[in-house]
Amino acid sequence: MTDKITLSVIKADVGSLCGHTSVPPELIDRAEEKLADSDLLDDYQVTYVGDDMELIMTHRLGTDHNDIHELAWDAFLAATEVANELKLYGAGQDLLSDAFSGNVKGMGPGVAEMEFTERKSEPVVVLMADKTEPGAWNLPLYKIFADPFNTAGLVVDPNMHDGFDFLVYDLKEGKKIAFSMPEELYDMLVFIGAQSRFVIHSIYRKGNEEDNIAATASTQRLSLAAGEYVGKDDPVCIIRCQSGLPAVGEVLEPFAQPHLVSGWMRGSHHGPLIPVSTEGSTPTRFDGPPRVCALGYQITNGKLLGPQDFFADVAFDEARKTANRIANYMRTMGPFEPHRLPLDEMEYTTLPHVMKSLEDRFEPIDE
Ligand code: 13P
Ligand code: 13P
Ligand code: MG
Ligand code: MG
Repeated sequence: MTDKITLSVIKADVGSLCGHTSVPPELIDRAEEKLADSDLLDDYQVTYVGDDMELIMTHRLGTDHNDIHELAWDAFLAATEVANELKLYGAGQDLLSDAFSGNVKGMGPGVAEMEFTERKSEPVVVLMADKTEPGAWNLPLYKIFADPFNTAGLVVDPNMHDGFDFLVYDLKEGKKIAFSMPEELYDMLVFIGAQSRFVIHSIYRKGNEEDNIAATASTQRLSLAAGEYVGKDDPVCIIRCQSGLPAVGEVLEPFAQPHLVSGWMRGSHHGPLIPVSTEGSTPTRFDGPPRVCALGYQITNGKLLGPQDFFADVAFDEARKTANRIANYMRTMGPFEPHRLPLDEMEYTTLPHVMKSLEDRFEPIDE
């Protein structure tokens, strides 16, 4: 137990009302009851984006703590029971195991956690997405922490001028590598531009100072954990803001230009990431388009003040229009790439089965 605060955001899809669209209040209430019963937490909120339920928790036990992970797992299990009773769609979808084994990583839920000493003022933004994958944060995180056209602070704030260190995971090989920005920008872009495999795990202030964590994202890939397609990973991300870190407005700015992500309809299509309020996060159009919500909190003596539901703002209306126009265009391509994901990304769907059943009919091209 330390004076440091840990902010844990742990999420799972444990059932949805009518398709993969929404988390009904009964599930939220049940998860909240579980968290309320615990004396481990300083504070908590249960929220959602589309069909994904997010547990946002503060405590003093550090990251990757068994008790916190077990609490989250129990909350998801309890909500799954309700989902089963109500015969909701995809009840327990993201819970890949029957028994908890110390850490929810690899068991289905997505996890973003950071430990820090609460500053004089501690503003954080929690990003939550539905119908996409962890690599969806690569482009916005790059803009927020390495692109001076997005983040004025990189140019004008002496405390940010040296840039940031990025930790990137290779999800396929199970390896990680650190890059120093801006010196290694071009090297890093080679990798993070391939966001289905290389994902930004966390970002740090430069130097060995205490409390240098600036951002961290969930990097779990359900399909890699389960060996087959079981839903997309629908990631979360935590970003600390202000006072030598990006301003809140710099954190939100990349989402004004919706970028293309994978995970739309059956986890098998590319589409624009549309910024929405939590209330507006029910994906309808072809089960999408992919959604992102941004919740702002002040962490005050371990308590979560907020949220501020940032993308409810009219300033993101144009982004929504742009995303809808892109969505219309992408849809015209139906089952053709690049709307549909490339073959190697479809490996956990029914496609390999179709391939197999037609194997005998393939003949050599004899010319
Ligand atoms: P801080 O320097 O207080 O983080 O804020 C800078 C600012 O004005 C953001 O627009
Ligand atoms: P989720 O991953 O959000 O459950 O969506 C599954 C899907 O395939 C919707 O089309
Ligand atoms: Mg679902
Ligand atoms: Mg989802």
